[in-house]
Amino acid sequence: MKKSVLAILTLGILSIPAFSQNLESQIEKLAKEYGCAGCHAVDKVVAGPPYRIVAKEYKGKPNAKETLVKSVLGGTMMKWQSKARKYGIKIKMAYMPAQHGVTKEQVEKLIDLILKLDTK
Ligand code: HEC
Repeated sequence: MKKSVLAILTLGILSIPAFSQNLESQIEKLAKEYGCAGCHAVDKVVAGPPYRIVAKEYKGKPNAKETLVKSVLGGTMMKWQSKARKYGIKIKMAYMPAQHGVTKEQVEKLIDLILKLDTK
């Protein structure tokens, strides 16, 4: 009994880094598929803010998911100028064009994953 509990705990601990690696590659894969990867990556600035910083900014905020999905589908402008300063990054574009090649469900799925990123 004790042994099996220990085995489960060990497995749990071992799978944490594996899981977070998986999450990042899942996000990069979807971003590529949905046409976001030309402007976004998980950890570096391409043209827009890195997804991990987006997660940091919105995690725990009310309506985080709805806000972000709306931004992606409708586009945003100048929203990240002051946020970028706050995080010490340089955004290379002042706006994100509305993304028409994706469905709301696809964007929701990707935003859910982004908001799960480890931001510590
Ligand atoms: C042509 C470049 C470009 C493409 C393509 C693009 N983005 Fe963006 N994205 C940006 C820029 C630039 C910003 C910051 C805009 C601003 O300051 O208002 C941004 C901001 C965001 C934000 C933060 C919005 C907010 O309200 O704070 C999210 C989330 C995001 N993008 C996700 C996506 C997803 C998902 C896709 C693909 C479906 C995508 N982006 C495609 C350039 C792009």
